[in-house]
Amino acid sequence: MTEIKFGYEVGTGEEVYIPLHHTIITGVTQQAGKTTALEGVIARSKLTAIAFRIKRGEIGFTTIGRRIQPVFRERADWRYVESIIEAIMREPQRYNRAQIIKACRGAKTLRDVWERIRFQLAKVREGSYLESVYTNLDAYLQIVVPRIEQMNFAKTLDLKPGINVVDMSGWEPELQYLVLASVIEEVHENHRNVIVVVPEAWEFIPVRRKTPVKLAAERLARMGAAVGNYVYLDSQNIMGIDPDIRSQLGVWILGVQRYEHEVKRTLNALALPPRLKPRPEDIMRLKLGEFYISTADTVVKAYAQPAWLPDEVAVKVAKGDLDPRSPEVQKYKPKIPVEPEEILISLWSKADELEKKVKQLYERMEAIT
Ligand SMILES: Nc1ncnc2c1ncn2[C@@H]1O[C@H](COP(=O)(O)OP(=O)(O)OP(=O)(O)O)[C@@H](O)[C@H]1O
Ligand SMILES: [Mg+2]
Repeated sequence: MTEIKFGYEVGTGEEVYIPLHHTIITGVTQQAGKTTALEGVIARSKLTAIAFRIKRGEIGFTTIGRRIQPVFRERADWRYVESIIEAIMREPQRYNRAQIIKACRGAKTLRDVWERIRFQLAKVREGSYLESVYTNLDAYLQIVVPRIEQMNFAKTLDLKPGINVVDMSGWEPELQYLVLASVIEEVHENHRNVIVVVPEAWEFIPVRRKTPVKLAAERLARMGAAVGNYVYLDSQNIMGIDPDIRSQLGVWILGVQRYEHEVKRTLNALALPPRLKPRPEDIMRLKLGEFYISTADTVVKAYAQPAWLPDEVAVKVAKGDLDPRSPEVQKYKPKIPVEPEEILISLWSKADELEKKVKQLYERMEAIT
């Protein structure tokens, strides 16, 4: 089995390897060092990987990644359209399935689906649930269809060994879902020995509802390993991710988490004998770059060696002789030119996200009380 160097065991400074398998890495934004860890692992593996940049100002996969054009294969079948609707309505659509199937019959492109939806929209009862489904889908396709038609997609994925990056930063999230899904499908159908890094997996592959990305990722996770294709999920948490995909993961890499409730749920789900499991406070006290790595029957606490950090320095960090944030470590990090405007945009979009989450929480609280 292929083993990839992850870094060094915290305390002893001994080398730590992970098996090549479907993998998840979790932890709090900026404090865990997920993307940096993945970058290091993939760079040392010498394998071919594909990663996606979805937010402006993101630093991951910029220094060692090679930019490529995505492909987009248009689909217009009802399963696909149903997954789009679930992604936007945030609810399972099995009761509307018959209507969705009807609306997609004979459609070859998303534009065809859009036209049929608008036709149906004119006929449904005002105020009905189906009306809101069609209205939302109409709004979604209105964003996506013209954008897809004017974009320059590649005919094939030009993957080379190392990290290949599809830059989707600044795109509408609606479009990101479809292109991410399409690229995963393309890898599944036409490539071998590729690691697909799925960003923000809790958002793209959520529990309960389908999304286009989930359909594609599920297939890759179920059947990819046989031909050397693996998914790497980069996610702030594990429990927000679809359980079917979770059950396919062979390696869990847990970085720092702050909410005890979330940590406990994660540890509960971890398939390890209780005596091997870390305690919640162990996870909550992890430092930048430190992770608990769990495979079928082992767990080890390791410092993730960034791609840019020399071995001897990484060993010192693992042994506790150097702090990962110290200048002695950080001076090795390559300077990437990030536009100040990009950073501002990224901060604004994070603020937007938080605002939305707070609002959702308030609404939920109000619903309960
Ligand atoms: N192992 C490490 N050693 C030293 N510095 C690190 C390490 N990991 C990450 N860093 C630094 O910490 C910062 C955050 O890292 P990174 O972007 O990898 O975090 P992340 O968990 O992916 O965050 P996000 O969820 O926001 O994407 C970066 O400046 C990075 O260079
Ligand atoms: Mg990251």
